[in-house]
Amino acid sequence: MRFLLDCDPGHDDMLAILLAAQHLDVVAITTVSGNQSLPKVTANALKILELAGLQEIPVAAGLARPLVAEARHAPEIHGESGLDGAELPEPRRAPIEEHAIDVILQASRRHDDLVLVATGPLSNVAAALVRDPPLAQRLVEISLMGGSTATGNATPAAEFNISCDPEAADVVFRSGVPLRMFGLNVTHQVVATAVEVARIRELGGRLARTVADLIEFVRAANERVFGASGAALHDPLAVATFIAPELIELREMHVAVELHGALTRGMTVCDDRRRGRAGDRIAGREGVARGAPPNCRVGVRADAPGFFDLLVETLARY
Ligand code: BDR
Ligand code: CA
Repeated sequence: MRFLLDCDPGHDDMLAILLAAQHLDVVAITTVSGNQSLPKVTANALKILELAGLQEIPVAAGLARPLVAEARHAPEIHGESGLDGAELPEPRRAPIEEHAIDVILQASRRHDDLVLVATGPLSNVAAALVRDPPLAQRLVEISLMGGSTATGNATPAAEFNISCDPEAADVVFRSGVPLRMFGLNVTHQVVATAVEVARIRELGGRLARTVADLIEFVRAANERVFGASGAALHDPLAVATFIAPELIELREMHVAVELHGALTRGMTVCDDRRRGRAGDRIAGREGVARGAPPNCRVGVRADAPGFFDLLVETLARY
């Protein structure tokens, strides 16, 4: 399989990139407005690749705003640069000329085994699907970080990536492309505390030191903003599932995006009523209507120690 990462780096997007580049065949990275403005997240993607010595992966900038909503960012978590907390090297190269949407479409025509990993708002992915609907048949799968089966973070109901561009998420969840969703319900099971930061720092070397400083920055931000003692490492789960599938348990559900609710816009409504076969008995669910046909495999349980072992072992390779 080939992989294209559409992202808004972003501290946890950086971890997704570093994991993917060591273990998977990454054909391109595309950027989208999200954690910070498009120019900032694009510069961050290039800086991460510079730090990691990954000069051969092309970076293409995409949409500078969501399809319908106003652009929104998350400086309270990711800082003014979108990747505050460490000094990163200035990139020696620029993004390629092509727009992210063209890059996604070209990659899907060139490779019949393409998986999109989306760890920011889904604006680029949805725009590509709208521009060229047969893209839905050409993609093997979309693996995304976004949503939640439970509470949100941007609002009580909605997670940041989906909440930034709910219309785009709606296009993606209705597209018919096989989907994997890693929402807050599972990413909050993978929390980096001072212990994990120290473990990464102990690896030594510039990259490990920089990654430790960056995770420490979001850890402190999460403590300040949410009163949490650690930082949930959301985005790398959407990559880790292809490297070590046993780390994250997936369950089939139907997921729809709420677009109109005054309090619930951007919520992922996850139908976990399970499609029962005749005679099925699900404890406590007798008499409950069967769920809608699944359109997504949703991450429900993560092996956090296993994930951190993978992360540390991967960072040690740089
Ligand atoms: C998501 O929002 C961003 O801040 C993170 O990079 C992650 O993709 C978590 O809600
Ligand atoms: Ca992200």
